[in-house]
Amino acid sequence: MKKILIVGAGGQIGSELVPYLRGIYGVNNVVAADLDEAKLQALSDGPVAKLNALDGERFAEIVKTHKIDTIFNMVALLSATGEKDPMLAWKINMGALENSLNIAKDNGCAVFTPSSIGAFGPNTPHDNTPQDTIMQPTTIYGVCKVAGEMLSDYYHTRFGVDTRSVRFPGIISNVTLPGGGTTDYAVEIYYDAIKYNKYTCNLGAGTFLDMLYMPDALDSCVQLMEADPTKLKHRNSFNIAAMSFDPEIIAAEIKKHIPTFTMDYNVDAVKQAIANSWPNSMDDSCARAEWGWNPKYDLNKMTIDMLDKVRVKFDKGMY
Ligand code: SER
Repeated sequence: MKKILIVGAGGQIGSELVPYLRGIYGVNNVVAADLDEAKLQALSDGPVAKLNALDGERFAEIVKTHKIDTIFNMVALLSATGEKDPMLAWKINMGALENSLNIAKDNGCAVFTPSSIGAFGPNTPHDNTPQDTIMQPTTIYGVCKVAGEMLSDYYHTRFGVDTRSVRFPGIISNVTLPGGGTTDYAVEIYYDAIKYNKYTCNLGAGTFLDMLYMPDALDSCVQLMEADPTKLKHRNSFNIAAMSFDPEIIAAEIKKHIPTFTMDYNVDAVKQAIANSWPNSMDDSCARAEWGWNPKYDLNKMTIDMLDKVRVKFDKGMY
C-alpha cells in the first residue's frame, strides 16, 4: 500500500482509519473521500475529496488523479437502518462495492471491504462459529455482506483483483458514533455511564455478541492488507474476534469503575431479532493462522480506555 483511498471516510471506522493510515503511510498518501463536507473538514490535514460512492465516474477520476493503489470501501448502511429501507441499503451497500471492484479492476488497485457478523443467520452454528459454514442471513445488511463477500472473491478469481476482507464484530469506539447498528448499545453504554450514570439497554440480558475495540479493528485492516498473499487460503472474508459478552457482563465491567452505575432494559424488537440471528462468538483461527490476527484488547482493557476517553470528551463538552 502506497497510495490509499478511503471511501466513507467520515463514518465510524473511516474517521479513525484515515489518521491511523496517515500515521503509517504518510499524510499525503491517504485520500479521505466522503459525501459529507463537514466530516471531510475534520480530515483535511491531508488530501480529501467529496464523493458519492455511487458516482462511478467521479470515483474513478479520484483514483486516477491520486494514482491510488488501494481502496478501502467503508461505505455501509448498518443492520437496523437497513431494515427501514431495504432497497436503499442494497443500493448503497452493493453500489459502493460494485464501483470499488470495477474501478480497482480497471486501475490495478487492491480492495478492502468490511464484512460483518451480520453475514451470518439463524441457521449458522452460534457458538464458536466456524470460518466456513452456513450463512443464510435474514437482514438486508447481511444479504449485502454475503453477496459482497462472494462478489469480491469472484473479482479475485475471475479478474485477479486483490480483494481482502474481515467479518467485523460490533466495533466499540470513541471518536465517531456508529449509527443504526444492532451492536451500537455497546458504545452508547459508555457514553451514558459517564453522562447519566445509568443506561437503558435496547438488547436483552443474555444476548451474546462478538465485539472488538477500534484500535484492534484498525490493526486488522493493515495486517490483512499487508499479509503475504501466498499465505491466504481465504480472502473474503475472515472471521475475527476479540471478546464476546452480553449486556449484563459489560454493565458489570463498567460498575467496577463506576460503582453507582445502573442499567435497565427497554428491548427494541427489531434489534433483538437481528441480534438473536447472529453468532454468539466466532472462531477466528483462520485469521490467526493465515495472517497473524492477534487482538490486544479484552473487555477489561477496553473498558478502562473507553471510560478515560469518553470522560475527556464529556469534560470538554463534546457530547
Ligand atoms: N455493527 C454492525 C451492526 O450492528 C454489525 O456489523 O449493524
